[in-house]
Amino acid sequence: MGIIFAENQGNKLFKLDTPNTSYIIGVVCEEGFLGHVYYGKKVSDMQGAEHLTRMYDHPFTPDTNARDRLSFMDCFPTEYSSHGVGDYRESSIRVKTKQGQEAVLLTYVSHEIYKGKKGLEGLPATFGSEDEVTTLEITCEDKAIGLKAVLSYSVFEDTDAIARNIKLINTGEDKLIVHKVMSACLDMDNQDYEMITLHGSWARERHMQRKAIGYGKSSVSSVRGETGHQDQPFMAILEKTTTQTSGDAYGIHLAYSGNFRMMAEVNQFDMLRVMCGIEPENFSWVLESGEYFQAPEALLVYSSEGLGGMSRSYHELYRKHLIRSPYKDKKRPILINNWEGTYFDFDETKLYNIAKEAAALGVEMLVMDDGWFGNRFDDNRALGDWVVNEDKLKGGLKSLVDKVNALGMDFGIWFEPEMVSPDSDLYRAHPDWAIAIPGRVPGLARNQYVLDVSRKEVRDYILDMMFQVLHSANIKYVKWDMNRPLSDVGSAVLNSERQGELSHRYVLGMYEMQERLLQEFPDLLLENCSGGGARFDPGMLYYSPQIWTSDDTDAIERLQIQEGTALIYPLSTMGAHVSVCPNHTVGRNTPFDTRGYVALAGTFGYELDMTKLSDEDKQMVKKQTQMYHQFNDIVREGDYYRIASYGENHLYDCFQVVSKDKKKSLVFFVQVLNEANKKSRILKLQGLCPSSTYAVKELTMEGDLSEPIVKDTGKVFGGELLMNAGLGFERMWGDYRAKIVYLEEN
Ligand code: GLA
Repeated sequence: MGIIFAENQGNKLFKLDTPNTSYIIGVVCEEGFLGHVYYGKKVSDMQGAEHLTRMYDHPFTPDTNARDRLSFMDCFPTEYSSHGVGDYRESSIRVKTKQGQEAVLLTYVSHEIYKGKKGLEGLPATFGSEDEVTTLEITCEDKAIGLKAVLSYSVFEDTDAIARNIKLINTGEDKLIVHKVMSACLDMDNQDYEMITLHGSWARERHMQRKAIGYGKSSVSSVRGETGHQDQPFMAILEKTTTQTSGDAYGIHLAYSGNFRMMAEVNQFDMLRVMCGIEPENFSWVLESGEYFQAPEALLVYSSEGLGGMSRSYHELYRKHLIRSPYKDKKRPILINNWEGTYFDFDETKLYNIAKEAAALGVEMLVMDDGWFGNRFDDNRALGDWVVNEDKLKGGLKSLVDKVNALGMDFGIWFEPEMVSPDSDLYRAHPDWAIAIPGRVPGLARNQYVLDVSRKEVRDYILDMMFQVLHSANIKYVKWDMNRPLSDVGSAVLNSERQGELSHRYVLGMYEMQERLLQEFPDLLLENCSGGGARFDPGMLYYSPQIWTSDDTDAIERLQIQEGTALIYPLSTMGAHVSVCPNHTVGRNTPFDTRGYVALAGTFGYELDMTKLSDEDKQMVKKQTQMYHQFNDIVREGDYYRIASYGENHLYDCFQVVSKDKKKSLVFFVQVLNEANKKSRILKLQGLCPSSTYAVKELTMEGDLSEPIVKDTGKVFGGELLMNAGLGFERMWGDYRAKIVYLEEN
């Protein structure tokens, strides 16, 4: 495995191998254009592969090899598309020179292959040891404008993933202004492909959309300064026939938490170009002579085993090579968060009573959400004033935390560090710290402004306040929230030429703040959040092992949200809580056990006032917490298989996690709607060992505490039968019913 380089008759070929995939790059002409030769199922030999670039096969070109003709540029499959020199498809790069032109054409200069992988300065990135990763760096150049570009590719020994990034260096005398620099460009022949993107809104994040690509350009993007609820920096390219278990699936995902663009284009020659990177709109970056710009990392996965194979590769990549937290392989504490339980209406007694009740039922951490600081008795004020409100928390924070600790529980706390309320001491003292355009009153969202965290003094000030709070008591967890997107993007300190840098500088500043927080508190469990799941992206996973998936905690709404999220993210990263009914977002009533089964597929916790639960529900909490302890290892570490999608069939949902040794599996089944007079459903399972036999058990929350949480059905089936023929799921009485089947190798 790793990276193979071969040179033959002036052609240079690079083959980048993962366990099951190959990616081939070629320098196949004397001008040194970097061609994309192949990406797909593994090939052991690349002899003659350069013919795939069709160097001599150009429509409209009367003579061969006429690379001076535009038609060559317009259909050459490239590794990184040029701008303004004849490739009329989407460009990867746009750089303005002193003279004002913007054309860029990069050609090969040199390359280097080495073991391991370098970090990206100031940006999140995948990592791995020298035994786990090999990297190829290809340096290209545009001599006409004095620009070098280092295209970097890292392949993983244990995961079918390739990490790409690009660094631009101004090697000329004059200043350059970068207006566009995509992180990856992938050219392929279009095979009538379809695409999947993930869309949503507040409380409705990451719903899957699958559609034909078609001619022209299709894109999803964010100009919100964060990834956003609305679109995910992800695109999957699939054959029409690709299913969960078979067919080609290409994934491309950007490890970045700000403005992004994902684009697919099919041109006149039926060639597909897929691209991802920082959204070029409102972006510019000044590169003085000798300076460089590092673009974020793009993460590519190919699977010949359908969407399921793609999902599992992303899960492995993120669990092993992106998340750094000391918690990443650990069972997370079961937490209770008071937000839906109390909103702003709490004091130390109320919180303590919730904690006391929860501790008795097996909950392990109390998280105090919004409303504990400054003058924050509603969401109109006080963001930025990170000082404990001791009228509300009498006796102070330490006293409350000590009391909660004495119950055997840990304590966590909520912050929204990047924000400021107009009605706050911070804003009154430093109005120019808010992002705004002079002469224009900036738009409020949730009654707040965004702080210009591109400024060091702003970051220092906020972190200093946070550190004081966190040092003042035994706090084990922070929920880092961000409740509005950026608008009126202007900084009081950047000069006019550099205002276009603000959105990216903002993201870099936010990353730096999270890095410093983790350096100061290395054992902290950090959970990111943004009005629910508006900043659920690979960039944030580099800092926090879990992210609040959505403010919608309704068990049925969560099915599609969690399905879309799990298409790329491991279940161990998805914040999932049980809340009360009628649900606060949609008003739906679902059984308490169903809410538990759905939340058990994530990091698990509660978002309610435990003191108000019925005795029956409290008993179920005890059983749910036991289930979490007994089965979370499989959820957190296992392989994920999608069996059926409620989003597609509108009736029921089913997915499975299988332990790595294939000895244990959990099958989550939710019957959303019952139907009259129908037989049981038989669903084909996946991922089991065909030659093993499995005892079929069921998790149950029924009965009093003396009843076990796992019931043996007495049935035993072979893995082959379960996968080829299926397992029967009997109809349950009523709607919104759920169960978890536990298969244990006999
Ligand atoms: C956001 C979060 C919620 C909660 C509130 C507090 O909406 O997603 O979980 O923390 O903010 O204001």
